[in-house]
Amino acid sequence: MQTLRRKMPPFFYLWCLLLAPCLLLLEEAHAARYGGASLRSQHMALLRWKATLASPPPQMSSWLENTSPCNWTGVMCSAIRRGRRMPRVVTNLSLPNASITGNLGELNFSALPFLTYIDLSNNSLHGAIPASIGSLSSLSHLDLGFNNLKGQIPSEVGCLHQDMRSGPIPGEIGKLVNLQFLQLTNNALSGLIPKSLGNLTQLNTLRLYGNLLSGPMPLELGQLIHLQDLELGSNHISGPIPISITNLTEMRRLSLTRNQITGPIPPEVGNLAKLNHLDLSKNQITGPIPPEVGNLAKLNHLDLSKNQITGPIPPEVGNLARLNHLDLSKNQITGPIPPEVGNLARLNHLDLSKNHITGPILPELGNLARLNHLDLSKNQITGSIPLELGNLTMLNALYLHENQISGPIPGSLGNVTKLVELYLHQNQITGSIPQEIGNLVNLKHLMLDQNIISGSITEFQPALFLA
Ligand SMILES: *[C@@H]1O[C@H](CO)[C@@H](O)[C@H](O)[C@H]1NC(C)=O
Ligand SMILES: *[C@@H]1O[C@H](CO)[C@@H](O)[C@H](O)[C@H]1NC(C)=O
Ligand SMILES: *[C@@H]1O[C@H](CO)[C@@H](O)[C@H](O)[C@H]1NC(C)=O
Ligand SMILES: *[C@@H]1O[C@H](CO)[C@@H](O)[C@H](O)[C@H]1NC(C)=O
Ligand SMILES: *[C@@H]1O[C@H](CO)[C@@H](O)[C@H](O)[C@H]1NC(C)=O
Ligand SMILES: *[C@@H]1O[C@H](CO)[C@@H](O)[C@H](O)[C@H]1NC(C)=O
Ligand SMILES: *[C@@H]1O[C@H](CO)[C@@H](O)[C@H](O)[C@H]1NC(C)=O
Ligand SMILES: *[C@@H]1O[C@H](CO)[C@@H](O)[C@H](O)[C@H]1NC(C)=O
Ligand SMILES: *[C@@H]1O[C@H](CO)[C@@H](O)[C@H](O)[C@H]1NC(C)=O
Repeated sequence: MQTLRRKMPPFFYLWCLLLAPCLLLLEEAHAARYGGASLRSQHMALLRWKATLASPPPQMSSWLENTSPCNWTGVMCSAIRRGRRMPRVVTNLSLPNASITGNLGELNFSALPFLTYIDLSNNSLHGAIPASIGSLSSLSHLDLGFNNLKGQIPSEVGCLHQDMRSGPIPGEIGKLVNLQFLQLTNNALSGLIPKSLGNLTQLNTLRLYGNLLSGPMPLELGQLIHLQDLELGSNHISGPIPISITNLTEMRRLSLTRNQITGPIPPEVGNLAKLNHLDLSKNQITGPIPPEVGNLAKLNHLDLSKNQITGPIPPEVGNLARLNHLDLSKNQITGPIPPEVGNLARLNHLDLSKNHITGPILPELGNLARLNHLDLSKNQITGSIPLELGNLTMLNALYLHENQISGPIPGSLGNVTKLVELYLHQNQITGSIPQEIGNLVNLKHLMLDQNIISGSITEFQPALFLA
């Protein structure tokens, strides 16, 4: 009604107050002007979409001509203020996992301008994301993940719409200014990530993983100051990590895995003080691990594996007291394992395999009491296996193969009774197999070949598997 006040001459409004039926007229005029404010037109838009579906799922059997859409499965209405009236309008459309097979473009979003919440994830929707979705200026949650959508993400999603007739909020017409959650994961969307997404400054979650998106990450993502969750993995994104995203200090989860990202990890990543999940794995990232990573005190998952990272493991990694998953495997990391890694008391997964790590396995690794997976294989590690590894009683996989480890197998390993896989092959291990290995009742795979080991293991476990 605010808008009407602005558009209608004041005498018209006064005149209307005297004539009650005129209010209806006003409502009609409003509905016409703002493309379907009436519940009737929202009702029709939903029914028309149902009619285009090959075989509407059982969830949609309540979607009928003679019932209110506010009563339908997956549809919710709310009363909105329109002057002195409080008409009910369709605000939520939520039918995830419903096996809806149809074209999303057949749903006329222009006729549903009051939607605040859309969850049509995990259906079989095909076609493109219609640009008209960008006119839903009340929308706060859009989930179209796990469908078969194709084409580009329309730039209208973040742009001021030209069509002044769409969208109910004047001044912000046709912009998803209220969008907080945008999930378009696991579709077949292609093209660039539109720069205009940087206008969606209320976003706290942006998940686009599992598509065919290409080109660089737009710098404009650095404007999304409320972003807590940015997941762009499994696309064809190239170019460097824009430094602008290191400004997003609310970020909790950043995943860029499985792309073609190049260039270094910006040291400014250390500004993301609230980060608890950082996954940059399976890209073409070069340069060293910046010591600033050690500032990420809340991190519990750090995966930089399968890149072209060089240089040493910075001792500052030992500051990440909450870390439970550390994977730096399949890079070109050099130098020794810093003793500070032994401070990571919550670690349960440590993978440093397939690098050029030198020096010994430090006794400090025996402090990692929660470790269940330790992989140091395929490096240039020397020295002997420390007795302290026998303290890792939660361990079920120990891979030390393809190094230059010498000395005997310590009997203390017999304390690691949860061990299922013990790979020590292709080293220079000497001596005989200690009796205590016979305590490893859960062991299924023991690989000892290409060492200088004497004796036989047949006397231990019939279940043992020798390669
Ligand atoms: C979509 O809805 C708008 C507003 O109700 C209407 O003007 C337009 O004609 C509709 N489009 C189609 C294709 O039905
Ligand atoms: C909603 O459905 C119930 C029964 O399922 C019915 O009693 C009620 O009248 C319906 N309300 C509207 C507004 O259609
Ligand atoms: C999708 O829905 C099906 C049931 O319709 C369910 O089995 C499957 O786990 C769901 N997948 C996701 C990713 O939600
Ligand atoms: C959709 O399916 C997934 C996986 O089975 C499940 O986690 C989720 O809760 C389901 N969503 C709804 C609304 O049923
Ligand atoms: C309806 O949408 C609002 C956000 O606009 C959301 O908070 C609420 O959970 C949704 N309700 C349902 C049942 O999906
Ligand atoms: C939105 O983003 C685009 C591209 O970054 C920009 O051109 C436009 O001015 C921005 N602002 C609005 C209000 O659309
Ligand atoms: C980070 O934010 C500050 C303040 O908002 C701004 O001045 C600066 O240009 C931003 N840096 C980048 C790299 O976007
Ligand atoms: C770890 O192992 C060593 C040698 O096996 C032992 O001397 C030490 O007491 C153990 N430490 C803890 C904390 O269990
Ligand atoms: C661990 O193994 C060593 C050597 O086999 C043994 O002396 C020690 O008692 C064991 N410790 C525990 C806690 O089982």
